[in-house]
Amino acid sequence: MDPVRNPYAPGAGQRPPELAGREKQLTAFDVVLERIARGRPERSVVLTGLRGVGKTVLLNHLRSLAIAKSWGTGKIEARPDQGLRRPLSSALHMAVREIAAGHPDPESVDYFLGVLKSFALRATADKGMRERWQPGIDAPAVKGRADSGDIEIDLVELLVDAAGLARDVGVGIALFIDEMQDLDPDDVSAICGACHELSQDAAPLIVVGAGLPHLPAVLSASKSYSERLFTYHRIDRLDREAADHALIAPAEREDVEFTHEALDVLYEMADGYPYFVQAYGKATWDVAAASPITPDDVRVGSPDAEEELAVGFFGSRYERATPAEREYMRAMAELSGDDGPVPTSKIAVELGRKPASLSPARDGLIKKGLIYSAERGFIGFTVPHFGKYLRAQTD
Ligand SMILES: Nc1ncnc2c1ncn2[C@@H]1O[C@H](COP(=O)(O)OP(=O)(O)OP(=O)(O)O)[C@@H](O)[C@H]1O
Ligand SMILES: [Mg+2]
Repeated sequence: MDPVRNPYAPGAGQRPPELAGREKQLTAFDVVLERIARGRPERSVVLTGLRGVGKTVLLNHLRSLAIAKSWGTGKIEARPDQGLRRPLSSALHMAVREIAAGHPDPESVDYFLGVLKSFALRATADKGMRERWQPGIDAPAVKGRADSGDIEIDLVELLVDAAGLARDVGVGIALFIDEMQDLDPDDVSAICGACHELSQDAAPLIVVGAGLPHLPAVLSASKSYSERLFTYHRIDRLDREAADHALIAPAEREDVEFTHEALDVLYEMADGYPYFVQAYGKATWDVAAASPITPDDVRVGSPDAEEELAVGFFGSRYERATPAEREYMRAMAELSGDDGPVPTSKIAVELGRKPASLSPARDGLIKKGLIYSAERGFIGFTVPHFGKYLRAQTD
């Protein structure tokens, strides 16, 4: 079929032609926005899940829901070893600019921008940066608020002030943090502390985070009360109905159909993982001669999908690992028949090594976001079907 009209969109953060199977999360978020608009207390929101399940896409969609309600919004993508001040101040600057026009008192907006500037300028002092970084805020810096240098104190002051502005305008502010597990421990602690303070005050500012499955553990290791601070949504693979819908709805708009049998084969191959649904959908479309799309089309197209996944989804991640880390992952792959989490003790036995000697490889892989520590003593791949991919490599 015409590749120009191919609707499917495999790729990190690529907006899917149809956001399938996320009605529950969308409805819940709508309730959060409405409650906050009415001055009711609400928890911040955290989305967790494996790689390629659609966390970033959902986060972006939630952001658009907030924008549609005239909220101020900003987004950051956390990176290991990068402080929070700079990206957060840019994101918050954007959020406040969006709502500032509706504020009755321009002076208090300027005052806030001055506080934001002081907060941001501490980034240079914190990290001992040589460069003179300017946050791009016109207002003069306000000394003595949100600039103590203690990120937790400063963040509470900053976000409480930002929420005050939003309240004046009668809207809310939502800050979106992708790859939240990559924040520094101090920054995680500061965010939890700030959310705690904001929720006690029913302040109209929420944080919406997304990250790997161990993100709840990262948050509760930081503050024991974090379990009560956030509403966690586990973003999982799509069930059969949703996966079919993700394929059928975009095709329908191009007057193309799938046979039921074609959908059976597609579901078996993609296993409900959104990234795979898009990849197999795309490859199948390109090889199909006519509508309806048949199981044979899927089978003919699938090697292309697999090749693309091997490079773009699996290979690019595998390449980030050192030789010792690759050895560790290969042992995991051998042990995890179904690609679920495996006990770390068994990995040591498999490799004939002392568990302690494997810690650097394990920690390195966790930091690179390739594996995560699941329940106590277990470790899992963050990338679905990664074990299968690795086993196929060594065959
Ligand atoms: N609900 C959905 N319906 C259909 N396709 C989806 C859905 N969610 C995501 N996708 C598709 O899945 C792919 C991966 O999405 P996304 O990048 O948001 O995943 P992610 O969970 O953020 O992955 P990572 O952990 O690697 O950042 C994209 O190609 C996207 O179009
Ligand atoms: Mg993502």
